Amino acid sequence: MSVTEEIKSRLDIVDIVSDYLPLRKSGRSFSGFCPFHQNTRTPAFYVFPETQTWHCFGACAEGGDLFSFVMKKEGWDFKEALAKMAAKAGVELQPLKPVDKKKQAAEDKMAALLEAAADYFHMLFLHAPQAELARKYVGERALNEDTIATFKLGYALQSWDACRNHFHDQGYSDEELLAAGLLTENPDKGTRYDRFRNRLMIPIRDLNGRIAGFGARTLEKEGIPKYLNSPQTAVFDKSSLLYGLDGAKRHIREARQVVIVEGYMDVMQGWQAGFRNMVAQMGTALTGPQLQQLKRYTKRFVLALDADAAGQKATMRGLQVARETLDREVEVKFDARGLVQHEGRLQADIRIVTLPEGNDPDKIIREDPTQWPKLLEQAQPVVAYVIKMATRDLDMNDAKGKTAVAQQVLPLIKDIVDPVERDHYWQALARALRIDERALRQIKVQEKFTRPPNRQSRSAMSAQTRFQPGQPPPPPPPPEWEDSSPVKPGHIGQRRADGRLAAGMRQANYLSQCLHHPHIFNQVNQRLTQNQQPLVSAMDFTAVEDRLLLEQMVAWLQQGVVAPINELCDSLDEALNERVQSLLALPAAPESDLDRLADKLALSVLNWRQEKIGQLVGEVKQLFRTEQALENADSKEMYAKLNEWTLSVLSIHKAKSAMSAASRRKAEDSVR
Ligand code: UTP
Ligand code: MN
Repeated sequence: MSVTEEIKSRLDIVDIVSDYLPLRKSGRSFSGFCPFHQNTRTPAFYVFPETQTWHCFGACAEGGDLFSFVMKKEGWDFKEALAKMAAKAGVELQPLKPVDKKKQAAEDKMAALLEAAADYFHMLFLHAPQAELARKYVGERALNEDTIATFKLGYALQSWDACRNHFHDQGYSDEELLAAGLLTENPDKGTRYDRFRNRLMIPIRDLNGRIAGFGARTLEKEGIPKYLNSPQTAVFDKSSLLYGLDGAKRHIREARQVVIVEGYMDVMQGWQAGFRNMVAQMGTALTGPQLQQLKRYTKRFVLALDADAAGQKATMRGLQVARETLDREVEVKFDARGLVQHEGRLQADIRIVTLPEGNDPDKIIREDPTQWPKLLEQAQPVVAYVIKMATRDLDMNDAKGKTAVAQQVLPLIKDIVDPVERDHYWQALARALRIDERALRQIKVQEKFTRPPNRQSRSAMSAQTRFQPGQPPPPPPPPEWEDSSPVKPGHIGQRRADGRLAAGMRQANYLSQCLHHPHIFNQVNQRLTQNQQPLVSAMDFTAVEDRLLLEQMVAWLQQGVVAPINELCDSLDEALNERVQSLLALPAAPESDLDRLADKLALSVLNWRQEKIGQLVGEVKQLFRTEQALENADSKEMYAKLNEWTLSVLSIHKAKSAMSAASRRKAEDSVR
């Protein structure tokens, strides 16, 4: 992730804008009076949490991301905005050193490798005769074709070197395969072999849909371990990833609730049955960074725990050891005290439900999907849940037992931030123990662990928030000069639904090709003007750094600068420089094919323009449906905009078909 992406993923544009003007929820978006032009009658300014963008539908007709908002509002330049927002997000900015550029390029390659590995395993799963058993297994677990494609399930061959050889042929070295976690080394013998053998491969994606690693399930009955995961790598960190989040985020927002389950299978089964607001923690207790990510989409969390994970006695023991074990990477799936603290800090509502003994969501949903929502309704607030569990088997004549329970639950109650809620649980605990509340209040809690509450997870969080320049940049987009169709079918439908990444990737590809082949910039513009379309301008881009970069490129070209790209980069800000480096790491189109590249890119520009207009039209229509206020004068402006957009889309269509026809003619001519 680049530093700007890192910052954006940690901040919510709704929060940021709210610091400057009051926002009101309207439908899926938030509205307010535009701070950039005279606007007092009806709100013309909208913020879209889903895409993390803003747009003014009124006189200024502008929009952008959170950086462009604060830059405009505060009059900051990009550098200032970056510094301010980094501080806000708790991301430490570090200057990019030459060494780091190399590291960045290496991690670019790693991202590409992981993406390719997922494709490789998926192809094997779909077509290899050896994968028959895997296909049968997935069929037995009742996962259908669509689910298999969406989650890109794969198969790793029963072999010590099949994967290794495959990627050697693709130009990857052993070191790269080791770093990506695909290869394992035996430290004693120094032998190297495929980590994943004869396993069902489940790609694990980050928040933005990039592959970070794999979970690999054994296909043998008692295979050990049941799930073999990628090791900790530069991009795979179990404690900050949540399985399924990239596809679930939209649904979490819609459902206004996230359901956190334990396993990969639970998420996939839920997805297939239409319960799509599910994510899985991967064998660890929920961490601060995980909850922070989720908080962008909702503040209502439901934890669905297996009976044994939440497990009666085990839970209570877990409760005590949880904090001690947090720094020890021991698998604690349920940390009540941590949750209560998170709840306060995040101002969230966290509830717990235990599943009936011997059941997991996968099984419940498969047997009777109607049971699932019913179960979730039984979720209880963390403290209520703990009180219930702790007192369930308690003998009411056992005075010592009561003290022990009080000792366990009181620290939790004391951690509750809200005074009314805290009082409520004092009473609830007294009632559950059938003792006088005053007596309860006199108990001195023996803090077995004297360090400040939850310090581990906090420091863990800050360690993660620190931005290392070498963090993984985006994986390369599908080469657009090869395939101008949006995103291949089955290739992560989720990304498409989000829209953001897809357009972002095309924009990245455009910029990357312009950097690799400076003449392309004018050639694309030529094709656009020939077809009566506006030249590519900064406003065509979503991310503010891309806008700045485009302006910079225009300036260079106007001055006729032909300095080598590295020299040009040295004149850029660090953050912009970083963006250029990651764009340059994307594969360049072959020099021999530049004419076709210009055709493709011009089409690509038109495609994303059209997509952007389509999105805006969608938003405005949605507003007409939800906003009473639009009935009056301002709706005229909106109708005018709709007309204007319709005309642009028509003209884009015309240009696109003219351009396609032209490139077809060219292709035919070249055959002759
Ligand atoms: P479970 O053992 O409950 O697995 O572990 P499951 O999801 O129900 O798997 P199936 O249904 O038997 O296929 C829950 C989660 O804990 C992690 C995985 O993320 C798993 O989905 N886990 C479990 C591991 O990482 N390694 C293991 O050996 C077991
Ligand atoms: Mn299971």
